[in-house]
Amino acid sequence: MKKIINEMKLRLPARSVNEAVARSVISSFCAELAPSVEELGDLRCAVSEAVTNCIVHAYRGRGDDERCYIYISARLYDTREITVEISDNGCGIENVELARAPSFTTGESGERCGMGFLVMESFTDSLCVKSRVGKGTSVLMRKKLKP
Ligand SMILES: Nc1ncnc2c1ncn2[C@@H]1O[C@H](COP(=O)(O)OP(=O)(O)O)[C@@H](O)[C@H]1O
Ligand SMILES: [Mg+2]
Repeated sequence: MKKIINEMKLRLPARSVNEAVARSVISSFCAELAPSVEELGDLRCAVSEAVTNCIVHAYRGRGDDERCYIYISARLYDTREITVEISDNGCGIENVELARAPSFTTGESGERCGMGFLVMESFTDSLCVKSRVGKGTSVLMRKKLKP
């Protein structure tokens, strides 16, 4: 049985400055497992994409006074595995399979390139996306570091 060696939970307002904050926090949190530069870069990129999606898509059209948060929960395991779950209480995704397809975007023309989920998938070992329209979205990523 693998054991959790450390865990964290973080709630950040869905503001674009918090993309950098999330990336830094994940880097510090993983430092204990001494990831390679490449592994750390992959993880930072994947987290960045997930957080950006919460900021850009999940709460699109919401007023400034509404509470729009990004929830990040991460765990380190003694098997050198890292899991990061990034969720929101935003608009949700109607068709997750379609949203995950390369180049699919609901962003305004030229604004986004629709590669976010592909980046998350290719830079981690597994990606699980759960979403309910009107309720929110949760993205769970798992990465196994080299011995
Ligand atoms: N957290 C989210 N909440 C609502 N919709 C989302 C979320 N994440 C992704 N999506 C939807 O999935 C689509 C694809 O996401 P992604 O691959 O990151 O591409 P992009 O962000 O460039 O559009 C988005 O255009 C959006 O419609
Ligand atoms: Mg995106």
